[in-house]
Amino acid sequence: MTIQRSIPRVAVLGTGYVGLVTAVGLAHLGLRVQAVDVDLSKIHRLRSGDPVIHERGLAPLLRSCIANGSLTFGTSVARALRGAEAAFIAVGTPSSPDGSADLRFVEAALDELIDEAQTDLVIVVKSTVPVGTNDGLQRRAQQRILKLGSALTVSLASNPEFLRESRAIADFLAPDRLIFGVRDQRSSTTLERIYSTQIAAGAPVLTTDPATAELTKYAANAMLATRISFMNQITELCDQVGADVEDIRRGLASDPRIGPHFLQAGVGFGGSCFPKDLLALRHSAHTHGIDIPLLDAVIDINERQRGLAVRKLASRLDLRRARIAVWGLTFKPDTDDIRDSPALGVVEDLLDAGASLTVHDPAAALPSWCRGRVERAETALGAARGAVALVHLTEWSEYRDVPAVQLAATMRGKLIFDGRNALDAASLRTQGFTVMQVGRGVQDPPANEPIAQVHGLVGALR
Ligand code: UGA
Repeated sequence: MTIQRSIPRVAVLGTGYVGLVTAVGLAHLGLRVQAVDVDLSKIHRLRSGDPVIHERGLAPLLRSCIANGSLTFGTSVARALRGAEAAFIAVGTPSSPDGSADLRFVEAALDELIDEAQTDLVIVVKSTVPVGTNDGLQRRAQQRILKLGSALTVSLASNPEFLRESRAIADFLAPDRLIFGVRDQRSSTTLERIYSTQIAAGAPVLTTDPATAELTKYAANAMLATRISFMNQITELCDQVGADVEDIRRGLASDPRIGPHFLQAGVGFGGSCFPKDLLALRHSAHTHGIDIPLLDAVIDINERQRGLAVRKLASRLDLRRARIAVWGLTFKPDTDDIRDSPALGVVEDLLDAGASLTVHDPAAALPSWCRGRVERAETALGAARGAVALVHLTEWSEYRDVPAVQLAATMRGKLIFDGRNALDAASLRTQGFTVMQVGRGVQDPPANEPIAQVHGLVGALR
């Protein structure tokens, strides 16, 4: 006799970056998914197959899931819950002015789920929420059920996400790990059923209590941010003593206990996660009477790092009215996301210093405060035309591909600040450029420098 298992049905509340990737990912793996959002115009766009966000591989999966009926979109939680055994809460948790995570949207989503549920339900919190939130939400759910006089049984579970923007689909389909923060067997069985494809493919599952799951998420982002700030802190010393941070990075990365990831120095980390999550983690610690000075340092170093561009350029150039080209606005390449991008901080500093800017980014729109204050160019070389200096802030591969010889013919000056250590400094120097990188000193063109002083000569010759 063959046992026929029904296809799990789930609801996903919130079609932001995390909610949408979760909904599309689960539907692609064969679940029946109903995604809900309060924004009707967004729902219309999603239904028509427009992914709304710039995320590699999302559009074709979205369209195929809509076409085969595994994924539907709507605004009604009641409808989304029909037949669903689990509901994911994947709404935003923005920063409050005091740094804490604002849980209003999460609580509103929970209340609506309780009000609309007709059958017992596992509610999975995907949104990034401070430690202790899940316990509070479970209590809130019980109180609401009691008030409604309902016989409903609701289990809250925590299932944090570890999706990197621009690789989110791949991260969802083949996760490094799945973390299930649960209180009962029902929740863990439901989550195992939902993620059965990834588990069968070898994704490790860590089953723990909800508080540990919540804190693991923050600790992961804080650890990654700490590695970046550590390297950025080291760059100051490198600049002083003439050491090369890129060689130091290679030296560290080849130690298997350290590994190669998140050691890239630059103008700092940004995005919708690291800055917000560090503040929320620090706030959580403070509410429990605990100071984490390490986190303070990670945040401070990151804030100071954006000032590097102006500090370094001002040592060689009068920035007042200087025409400067800016390459890159997004917080990292292959996304159109400029939230908390360090590049925007640098743009603001350069404007404050009196520079006149022409900006290029392959994907980002100019934020409203920039409009009328900076010019926008359609191409990287277009931004560089007539500029006395170039500032490189996001390591899009197309910037590395701009031939040094063409750049030299296009710009008026020969000064480059490479805030991501990603441009080919050796070729640029042979075209007469002075290249300022992060933690690699000032690299003048070979003709201007006695050979013994050529900084990073070994690296350049490798
Ligand atoms: C980050 C985490 O990597 C994900 O695991 C997590 O799920 C996600 O936040 C989240 O909490 O939702 P993401 O914000 O997409 O993902 O960006 P990352 O690729 O981690 O980069 C963050 C920032 O660090 C970028 O500004 C990047 O330029 C910077 N960075 C990264 C460095 O400056 N140096 C490095 O070596 C690596």
